Amino acid sequence: MYRTNTCGELRAADVNRNVTLAGWVQKVRNLGAMTFIDLRDRYGITQIVVEEHSPEQTRKAAAELGREFVIQVRGRVIERSSKNPKMPTGDIEVAADEITVLNPAVTPPFTIEEHSDGGDDLRMKYRYLDLRRPPLLRNMILRHKMAQSVRRFLDAEGFLEIETPYLVGSTPEGARDFVVPSRMNPNQFYALPQSPQTLKQLLMVAGYDRYFQIVRCFRDEDLRADRQPEFTQIDCEMSFVEQEDILEIFERWAKYMFKDVLGIEFNEPFLRMPWIEAMEKYGSDKPDLRFGMEFANVTDLAHGHSFSVFDDAEYVVGFAATGCATYTRKQIDALTEYVKRPQVGAKGLVWIRMEAEGGVKSSIDKFFSADEVRAIAERCGAKAGDMVFILCGPKFKTLTQLCALRLEVAQQLGLRDPKKFAPLWVIDFPMFEWDEETQRFYAMHHPFTSPKPEDVQYLESDPGRVRANAYDFVCNGTEIGGGSIRIHDAKLQALIFKCLGFTPERAQEQFGFLMNAFKFGAPPHGGLAFGFDRLCSLFGGADSIRDYIAFPKNNAGRDVMLDAPSRIDQSQLDELYLSLVKPE
Ligand code: AMO
Repeated sequence: MYRTNTCGELRAADVNRNVTLAGWVQKVRNLGAMTFIDLRDRYGITQIVVEEHSPEQTRKAAAELGREFVIQVRGRVIERSSKNPKMPTGDIEVAADEITVLNPAVTPPFTIEEHSDGGDDLRMKYRYLDLRRPPLLRNMILRHKMAQSVRRFLDAEGFLEIETPYLVGSTPEGARDFVVPSRMNPNQFYALPQSPQTLKQLLMVAGYDRYFQIVRCFRDEDLRADRQPEFTQIDCEMSFVEQEDILEIFERWAKYMFKDVLGIEFNEPFLRMPWIEAMEKYGSDKPDLRFGMEFANVTDLAHGHSFSVFDDAEYVVGFAATGCATYTRKQIDALTEYVKRPQVGAKGLVWIRMEAEGGVKSSIDKFFSADEVRAIAERCGAKAGDMVFILCGPKFKTLTQLCALRLEVAQQLGLRDPKKFAPLWVIDFPMFEWDEETQRFYAMHHPFTSPKPEDVQYLESDPGRVRANAYDFVCNGTEIGGGSIRIHDAKLQALIFKCLGFTPERAQEQFGFLMNAFKFGAPPHGGLAFGFDRLCSLFGGADSIRDYIAFPKNNAGRDVMLDAPSRIDQSQLDELYLSLVKPE
């Protein structure tokens, strides 16, 4: 037997027991007469003591230990003379009779403790060492608990967990596909699924009624803190449902998760906000509602004062930064620089200072009277002591830029508290999104999303006006999940493909399997998928999903530990009928 107990288990009640522990050497402190060893495993740390009267073999073994050696210790549990109330095992220590080195270790490249001295790249390269550290271990435990919680809830609600294949066909919508060459089918490729969207719809056609899967999805897109090329979804689909049924069950699910995992109770219904309201009030379809600072459209008040910047703009919009009237010139300049960064893209920033004493000053005093400036500030909800920030330009572009500023100001004010949760549903998304570059409409959610029945009439005449039966679950400024009621009618589906610029032949080639399936009796159905990694990082109070994935990729999409992607042998290429071309 390698061990009788784990390193997190022994307490005062175990004093005098003979035990065997096994684990990693966290630290050795040699105090001459006595040597203390912190022995660590997944469950905790137990102090081992080697004393003057310990067997010589044992003293010798202790003297040769280094960090991260894997050892086995046989000994007796004794009460500690100086107890450590910070450690669950802090009342006891194990007086070692015998130490066996199970495996020596070379010195690790960084310290394996709560806070490591290793840089990002180094810790990614030695991810298995980083995973030994308590913060990552806690994250993996949280992720595990959340997966169990998801399964418990959905199982109780009658959802069947069904796996779908990873080697599927390529679909051109959405992100880029990762493709896999087929040896048995020369010159043909599988694609890894961006999501099991069409497969779960086919499971509804098959009559399975309620499906879920905690499933890996693959998207070849630019990476950010909340994006990985392979990530995990909690993917769900239901039959004979309307939007209301889905929101009801998944709101219950979200509340169950908050309660079960974090002990947080939400007694009120989650807010439901139409997409257009989210955009106009917060400049984002994933508004952060942990704090106010709502936007106000001041275009009418801004136009007509010979201030050409405003006069030439389609939209002028501002918000009141609570309590920021004390911002110095330097702070305002820094925020102006912030909005001018290419990532934000504004041309400049207009400000109005509502002085605590009642006065008002602004960067547009030359063009507006004090009362006119005050009227703009008050429209933005500003009170004495607040600062109003205003941007102008094309409507949605400007709203998005102001959103970036709102979040930056909130960050500086410490309003983005990771322990506070502000969930909501964003509903009534537009069906299509116009892309300037390619001059065509794209499905805002995906091409299987149904339009609102009352908007179907505009599908061909005014597609931009059509709203979808689509919804997102948003919390703290992050899109955690999204879904829609699907089209279950082959004719309507064909029309949507047409609106998206597919010829009937191409639609048949890409999605024929789905449209054919619908001919065999498809139930009305809908569903959604939650980003599991994002949900974990939200619950864990972190921005980056990487810390909640055991083996993530870096920002360049590389696994630096496995050194992937990498070259393959010529023989492998030959087998796959592939030849390489030098990149330009
Ligand atoms: P969607 O594309 O909105 O919907 O994805 C659902 C959720 O998955 C998460 N997510 C990601 N997480 C990490 N890295 C990524 N690269 C990434 N991309 C998406 C987000 C998002 O809300 N099939 C539909 C769902 C449906 O209609 O049922 C779908 O995939 O949290």
